Amino acid sequence: MSAPKKLFIKTYGCQMNVYDSERMAEALGGEGYVETKSPDDADMILLNTCHIREKAAEKVYSELGRFKGLKADKPDLKIGVAGCVAQAEGEEIMRRQPLVDLVVGPQSYHRLPEMEAKARTGEKVLDTDFPEEDKFEKLKNRPKAKRGPTAFLTVQEGCDKFCAFCVVPYTRGAEVSRPADRILREARDLVERGVREITLLGQNVNAYHGAGPNGDMTLAQLIWELDKVDGLERIRFTTSHPNDMQDDLIEAHGACAKLMPYLHLPVQAGSDKILKRMNRAHTAESYIRLIERIRAARPDILISGDFIVGFPEETEEDFQATMDLVEEVKYGTAYSFKYSTRPGTPAAERAQVDPAAADDRLQRLQALLTQQQREVQDSMVGREVGVLFEKAGRLPGQMVGKSDYLHAVHVADCDRNIGDLARVRIVSSGPNSLAGELIG
Ligand code: 5AD
Ligand code: SF4
Repeated sequence: MSAPKKLFIKTYGCQMNVYDSERMAEALGGEGYVETKSPDDADMILLNTCHIREKAAEKVYSELGRFKGLKADKPDLKIGVAGCVAQAEGEEIMRRQPLVDLVVGPQSYHRLPEMEAKARTGEKVLDTDFPEEDKFEKLKNRPKAKRGPTAFLTVQEGCDKFCAFCVVPYTRGAEVSRPADRILREARDLVERGVREITLLGQNVNAYHGAGPNGDMTLAQLIWELDKVDGLERIRFTTSHPNDMQDDLIEAHGACAKLMPYLHLPVQAGSDKILKRMNRAHTAESYIRLIERIRAARPDILISGDFIVGFPEETEEDFQATMDLVEEVKYGTAYSFKYSTRPGTPAAERAQVDPAAADDRLQRLQALLTQQQREVQDSMVGREVGVLFEKAGRLPGQMVGKSDYLHAVHVADCDRNIGDLARVRIVSSGPNSLAGELIG
């Protein structure tokens, strides 16, 4: 038997790319590949890329440049680009960087084994189609090997919202939901392999409407089906759009014990003028009312958000409206970005904000968000929370896990194992994590 070929995958960007990389590694596993942690001994290198901001996309080319020496030493080495840069730039990637052998868009991963075989014959291969077939069904089943206690599971992909700044509707395509039975089968499979917590993924996950036994199902209905899976202890989902936050999902946050009290609900900006220009189809006020309804169902829920500052035509007054909204909502965690022009999106054509003003706004917003994050984290001290242990800590006898609210928690003198869920009292709050002690 010949030695297995080695595959090095580097993943950029969002959690869906993390999930896709796992699935690609499994698909190529069927072709005799095993994963390696270093590009140096790889027979194939795959970069799973992100196109959301210019910086993320440019990183890919500098990374590819670094593989020149490797390819010169090992002419059989195949180099592939997957993900959203592959989708957006296609053939241009091979023109700009001729050492690339293979370019595969996110909707064509099931064709990767055939593409790899073609690339082995010295052909350059490219596939950025949006085929009709379900790539996840065509991909080989996930192998049964044991794995860590948390996993991602894609339930929905693509977006029809067309926010004026965003490449996702172009790179990931139209909104598509996977049928519920396939998701449930995959979830049971993950649980058999040791998974205790599943994060359901979708660019617009709360718009989920996959086929169920009695017609299309909502995300809340899917969550209630997952709630019945024995051995699955925790359910999360991301990313949601405010306009798709239906009543049954809000109710589930109050009623479903396995659904964790954490919600990532991007608002992007607090000025109605800017929200309109962004094509967000909600106002600051409607977002705040929505948060109130969610908190009425689940008062302790931790709210997370995404923000863009320096969107075209944003004035200081518009920015102040974003700061006011943040003050009102009080975020437990948040991600904030300076607007980055993306070719092909509507906002790219508009008058841009002075970069120095945008930098200054980003700093002020991040200072406020960091302060809120700190306050919410500190408010956990003295409380009892669930913690799912994910790994051993650096100190002897210490274990590290995530709380229900997704805070990292360190527990000393901990006799529990990875994958155990325990009740923990939080005793102190450090810069990036909490410390707690087991109860009982
Ligand atoms: N510039 C800056 N940030 C962006 N995002 C999406 N597109 C852009 C862009 N062109 C941010 C949004 C989104 C998050 C994933 O990335 O806040 O919610
Ligand atoms: Fe992009 Fe999200 Fe807007 Fe869709 S809803 S266009 S993924 S920011």
